[in-house]
Amino acid sequence: MSEFIIRGANPLKGEIQVQGSKNGILPILAASILVGGETLLHNCPDISDVACALEILHALGCKAQRRGGDIYIDSRTINGYEIPDRLMKKMRSSIIFAGAMLGRTGNVRISSPGGCFLGERPIDYHIHALSALGVDMEYDGEYYLCRALKLHGAQISLPFPSVGATENAMLAACAAEGSTIIYNAAREPELADLADFLQRAGFEINGAGGPTVIVSGGRSCGFVEYTIRGDRIAAGTLLCAAAASRGEVTVRGIDSARVSQLSHCLAEAGCAVRSWADAVRVGTVGPLSAISPVETHPYPGFSTDLQPPLMALMCFAKGESIFIENIFESRYNHIESLLRMGARIQAFDRIAHVHGVPVLHGERVDAADLRAGAALITAALGAQGETRISDLGYIDRGYERIEEVLASLGADITRITENDFGA
Ligand code: EPZ
Repeated sequence: MSEFIIRGANPLKGEIQVQGSKNGILPILAASILVGGETLLHNCPDISDVACALEILHALGCKAQRRGGDIYIDSRTINGYEIPDRLMKKMRSSIIFAGAMLGRTGNVRISSPGGCFLGERPIDYHIHALSALGVDMEYDGEYYLCRALKLHGAQISLPFPSVGATENAMLAACAAEGSTIIYNAAREPELADLADFLQRAGFEINGAGGPTVIVSGGRSCGFVEYTIRGDRIAAGTLLCAAAASRGEVTVRGIDSARVSQLSHCLAEAGCAVRSWADAVRVGTVGPLSAISPVETHPYPGFSTDLQPPLMALMCFAKGESIFIENIFESRYNHIESLLRMGARIQAFDRIAHVHGVPVLHGERVDAADLRAGAALITAALGAQGETRISDLGYIDRGYERIEEVLASLGADITRITENDFGA
């Protein structure tokens, strides 16, 4: 089992280009099935969720290969309809391949998707949306056998602006006969990126990134070349880490508007924050202070994915900061480890009260999920002494060689692998 060894209190300094977006590339990899031809993607993050998506494409008969930071896909050779259960269980995004497959072939067999344990994470909104488009979904207790003899346009009202359900509906609707309107659609930037990709592929989509998306169908042109946008969650994580280390870091390659909610929190906490169109710099000038209640909401509200690293930072801030997690019912998996590092946090259901302390101390801790791991890295960089973080599998799902990124900014961080343990 691999782990990070982090020796804290080295201020991070310098500039870094943020990785391509995990939550941006995953639906676009699924959308490459709809292209029914060749797709060439640039700025692709080298993370295990992307590797899993490429395995799914291979399992369905597509050609898919990474060429450095590029990924090439040829989905003309598609010949399957079953997504292996072991791949479905590796990540939540596996379910997005359903909408693309139904749009391309009208046939797909899936099981319930996996991903970080953040609560129940049902797929009822996905079923609601796909059924409205004419998909028949039979569940045999293990698999969903999904068929669509003919997809037809529909008016879909999502009970909640679910990112994944909006993506699935958009993908299947591209192949539907007639227009589809998705009401109460998710507004995360990754939806606009997916629509941008699909429009380049020849499909007609309007309103993505807003609450109402209209998909008018279209035909694939057979070739798309696209550059994945910067990862706003990875960028926000680096900004929190820089502040926790009391350093000064500029994160480049990120649309600053996509992290504006976090930038506002960091400025309120006393950080020096400066934003450009495609970069954000954070520096620390004096002691951090507690911020007004942070409530997570669907975009453009504060992102639930940045709640864990921001909470870790607020452990160092004088006063009481309150967090209210409105998206997932179990997204405080980082608190136990932060408490062991000396943090003072009281959590009641979805509300967490964080009382800043002068010092956190290094500890042996486990990353319980992807962004909980980000929180522990943030805390370890500001802590005194050595922290060992195990279960790097979660962190590697979403952060591309984060130890190299942080070390390039001056962090004292080492990855120890099984070989180093002499396993
Ligand atoms: C996406 O997950 C992101 N993942 C998540 O990022 C992110 O936290 C989440 O959106 C919210 O922004 C990817 O894009 C790959 P949802 P998704 O459907 O699509 C409930 C990360 O760390 N719900 O918007 O699964 C659900 O349980 C990950 O990068 C239903 O009840 O999120 C949750 O409480 C974590 N039924 C809420 O809606 C459904 O059918 C939001 O889920 C679907 C969702």
